[in-house]
Amino acid sequence: MCGIVAVIGSREAAPLLLEGLRQLEYRGYDSAGLATVEALAAGPAGSPAEGRLTCLRAEGKLINLTHRYEQHGAPGQCGIGHTRWATHGKPEERNAHPHLDGSGRLAVVQNGIIENFRTLREELQAEGVVFRSDTDTEVIPHLVARQLERIQQGRPASGALLLEAVQQVLPLLHGAYALAVVWAALPGALVVARKAAPLLIGLGEGEFLCASDTPALAGFTRTILPLEDGEVALLTPLGIELYNAAGERQQRTPSLLSGTEHVADKRSFRHFMLKEIHEQPETAALWVARHLPEGGTAGGQAGASLVALPLDEGVYEGVERIQILACGTSRHAAQVGAYLLEQLAGIPTSVFYASEFRYAPPPLSAHTLTIGVTQSGETADTLAALAMEQERRSLVADPAFAPRLLGITNRPESSLGRLVPHILDIGAGIEVGVAATKTFLGQLLAFYGLALAFAERRGGGATGHGPEQLRRLVAALRALPEQLKALVEDHDRRCAELAHLFADTQDVIFLGRGINYPIALEGALKLKEISYIHAEGYPAGEMKHGPIALLDARVPVVSIAVPGLVFDKVLSNAQEAKARDAQLIGVAPEGPDTELFDTLLPVPEVDELISPLLTVIPMQLLSYHIAAHRGLDVDQPRNLAKSVTVE
Ligand code: F6R
Repeated sequence: MCGIVAVIGSREAAPLLLEGLRQLEYRGYDSAGLATVEALAAGPAGSPAEGRLTCLRAEGKLINLTHRYEQHGAPGQCGIGHTRWATHGKPEERNAHPHLDGSGRLAVVQNGIIENFRTLREELQAEGVVFRSDTDTEVIPHLVARQLERIQQGRPASGALLLEAVQQVLPLLHGAYALAVVWAALPGALVVARKAAPLLIGLGEGEFLCASDTPALAGFTRTILPLEDGEVALLTPLGIELYNAAGERQQRTPSLLSGTEHVADKRSFRHFMLKEIHEQPETAALWVARHLPEGGTAGGQAGASLVALPLDEGVYEGVERIQILACGTSRHAAQVGAYLLEQLAGIPTSVFYASEFRYAPPPLSAHTLTIGVTQSGETADTLAALAMEQERRSLVADPAFAPRLLGITNRPESSLGRLVPHILDIGAGIEVGVAATKTFLGQLLAFYGLALAFAERRGGGATGHGPEQLRRLVAALRALPEQLKALVEDHDRRCAELAHLFADTQDVIFLGRGINYPIALEGALKLKEISYIHAEGYPAGEMKHGPIALLDARVPVVSIAVPGLVFDKVLSNAQEAKARDAQLIGVAPEGPDTELFDTLLPVPEVDELISPLLTVIPMQLLSYHIAAHRGLDVDQPRNLAKSVTVE
């Protein structure tokens, strides 16, 4: 949530800030702003030049800020910028960042939440400070300005002074944040800091660009230095001074951003979401090439096994239970994963909303693997839940309860990557559309890999999935990229033709059972978030226990019905809906059984265990085309952000 950028060097800062913000707009687009510091005159020998601060802010998307910049300009080679997802205070210009101190000479941008801001605000107000916004962030410039006044005592303005003031203010702030501070007195320095929110420094030639995420850095440099939790940095065109929370100077070697996957390009598609849906055959093909070795045999020795995942053998050893923590779409992938881990590998598995787990964790169980699933690797609830689990298990002396943490993510370089010792990288390439699509498929595939790897090591056992069935599943997975390609093309056309039927629809019900129940949930979530149509996903058998009262001719029902364990049951549940005049859309194979549907979105007949990888495609395309037909902003739906970095 919210994206911040900061730049210092020898080029004009504002264009670099605007470009960085453009790449971060997926994190929030309620308002945007920037502040630059321009050098006015060289100071006396040995002292820095005095400067002038320009602050521009605009409600709404970045384009509004860009227009403001084109009208007013913002000179200077040092600056900070922000794109906002509103938490405290409405999405109005007065709540847009940067926020200034009373003198208007100190500006701050922040991503996160200052949880004790009310107390700090009251304290400052009692001292006579006047607040101009409703935000939590505004306390920071006032606190830093107060601290500067206390410690300056005739000392000339310097980077060291600003750093010292910020370091003394940070312990007063409770919560998670990444922030950047500029001061009119210092055209040649800025200070950044982070605690439990991401911040990376990109190293250029005599210039530095800090940002919340890699896409903002990719066009600037490939050399990056991610800030560790609690670190503060002073940046000047000459270099970086890095300190930990205890104020000790840190030295670290920068790392390299790999590949081109950090560059976002819509190609010829109308929206990023549509492009990303079409990229799924490639996501699957890459995954198959990386993780299903040619000639692998079930139960084979290392190197010859069916699935090759880059995980230490210790991750699998002695696991008796699995718990999975995730939010939103990632949680739906986790539910499919839990089904596979239980039914294929025979391991009792529970899925938790990360936001609930943290405050009501189950009693500790022995020999438990905890998996955090987050495409962004930055979801605050998921990170906090994992950190809590790590901590409470570390306090137990019995090694059976020791923490074992695994992360599934599309961003191995994220905060998740730094928090957990083992990572499964889904390698889907950057996803810009706020609605997750190809990363969902990537997460599903990671779970197929994990469940197969566990099942293979356990020889089927209690679940009866012996080597032969595992081999059949792997063969089905190999066929997936081709099937997906045909399916995406076919349903793109079908769903585009269907979309007008939903012009006035207000409610849609999605039904699924067994391994496809989470896909019904995902279909409903996709529709809600981009088309703003109310939608619910239900286990089909549960409809008759209440929700069926909602049905009439105005409520379409999308039913996922694939041959397997619960096929007949789902068809009966669909009949029950039809008897209430519901308009029935079936996601099912073609055939006499599925003639009851008013509209069929056909999927190939595959092993039921594989089917979610296919049934999700019509769900994504139906939502996409309904939203696009309604003329909505598919890639940046209202009130949402790609990376939810507040709890
Ligand atoms: C839905 C969506 C969200 C995310 C959720 C978790 O399309 O994108 O529901 O799935 O915010 O995000 P990650 O996976 O980054 O933890």
